[in-house]
This record gives sequence, C-alpha cells and structure tokens, in this order.
Amino acid sequence: MNVVITGGSRGIGLELTRFALQKGYRVLAQARTPSNSEDLLKLKSEFSDLEIFFQDLESSDVHTKLSNAISEWSHLDILINNAGVYLDDESIDDFQKSYLVNAIKPLFITRALFDKLKKSKNPRSIQITSQMGSISDNTSGGSYSYRSSKSALNMLFKSLSVDEPWLISLLIHPGWVKTRMGGENAPLAPVVSAAGIWKVIHSIESTHNGSFVNYLGQKISW
Ligand SMILES: NC(=O)c1ccc[n+]([C@@H]2O[C@H](COP(=O)([O-])OP(=O)(O)OC[C@H]3O[C@@H](n4cnc5c(N)ncnc54)[C@H](OP(=O)(O)O)[C@@H]3O)[C@@H](O)[C@H]2O)c1
Repeated sequence: MNVVITGGSRGIGLELTRFALQKGYRVLAQARTPSNSEDLLKLKSEFSDLEIFFQDLESSDVHTKLSNAISEWSHLDILINNAGVYLDDESIDDFQKSYLVNAIKPLFITRALFDKLKKSKNPRSIQITSQMGSISDNTSGGSYSYRSSKSALNMLFKSLSVDEPWLISLLIHPGWVKTRMGGENAPLAPVVSAAGIWKVIHSIESTHNGSFVNYLGQKISW
C-alpha cells in the first residue's frame, strides 16, 4: 500500500505515519523543516519505507513538488491531508493562512496527485477535518478562522466526491486529541485517534464517498 501523509512531523500525523509503517506500507510524509521533525527523522532511521518531503504547505508550488516527489511510484492508494493550523482571529493574515493550509492546499494537493491515485485499485483521499467545522453543531461560537476553514474543507471535498466518484473522499474528525493543537486537557492520546482513523480508512467503501465521520466511523452532521 502506498500512502502520502501531510503534517507528519508531530501529533496525529506522526502517529498516522508510524501506524502505516508498522503495517508495512510505503509512506511519503510531508513536514516543514528537519529541525521541526525530530520524531519523524527517528522513525526514518527505523523504517526504510519512509520518505520525508520537506516543504511548507504555504509555498505556492508545494502541490507540484509533492507530485514530483512520488513520480517514481507506480501508484498512490491513500492520501491523508492531515496538516492543519489553529490561529487567533486577530488578523486577515490568520484567516488567509487558515484557509490556505486547512482547505485550499488539501484540494490542490489531491488534484496534483490524481494521476497516481487513478492508478490504484482502491484510491482514497482522507481529510482530517474537525467537528468544529460542523455548522449545525456550532453552539459555542468563536474560533472564526479555524471553524470556517474546516467548513470550507468539508464543502470542497463534498464537491470533489460528486465530481470524482472514482476517488473515495472522506472527512474525518480525529476526536479531541492531546497534541500541541488539542492541548493538555484533551482526553485522547494521538495513538488512539490514529488507530481509529486507520480502522475507518480500512473499512470504507464507495457508498461512504463524501461522508463526514469521526475517528470511530460515526456520522457527524454538516
Ligand atoms: N488535536 C485535536 O484535538 C484536533 C481536533 C480536531 C481536528 N484536528 C485536526 O487534526 C489535524 C492534525 O492536528 P494535530 O492535533 O496533530 O496538530 P499539531 O500537533 O499542531 O500538528 C499540526 C501539523 O500540521 C503541520 N503544519 C501546520 N502548518 C503547516 C504548514 N503551513 N505547512 C506544512 N505543515 C504544516 C505541523 O507541522 P510543524 O511541526 O512544522 O508545525 C504539524 O505536523 C489538523 O488538521 C487539525 O485541525 C485536531
């Protein structure tokens, strides 16, 4: 199984990467810089099937370069758009960064990898979204840039699921997870969330295309 994961340096992305390598999959993990990626580099010393692609998702040609990085691969089975940011709502720049990293780049990366995904027998595109992107579930307000960028991510991939039915696209909420983003009070360990996400990925069928679910596979309302 050939897999690409963004945001592999830490948190949920690191555990998704570790899990895939333990399963014997070939993984290309995107990370920003080597200095930020100590744990990922340690994984590379343990697993020869891990390649690391260093590039910021904010850079304009990241999707093209990511596609070039797997040009030797015969196919791509699973793309996991995991990298994300939670910023203050102080500036327009915060909103632009949130939309770019959380919503726009996942779509452009997915499109850039279409050729390799089309060569898989069972191609899947997995977006790590958030329940905070659910409009009907929003009863506490706040987090304007984060919430709306995840709602945008959900809408982009709902549309993609309609237009590209050959690709199973899923939006997965990972739970409230103890990472730099989730904070110390979060109840879920990253390894538990990642194991749940992989269980969902392994069980999805074409009827699930365009669904919004949590890491246990339970549906979330839009
Ligand atoms: N933790 C939760 O409770 C929770 C809940 C709902 C949804 N989520 C979602 O789960 C995903 C993973 O979050 P996490 O909790 O693991 O957060 P995290 O520990 O803060 O990790 C975020 C990851 O995204 C990467 N990233 C951020 N900005 C980037 C950029 N401009 N270019 C490339 N990579 C970038 C980070 O790389 P660096 O190490 O280089 O910064 C890091 O690998 C996110 O999409 C998040 O929205 C998390």
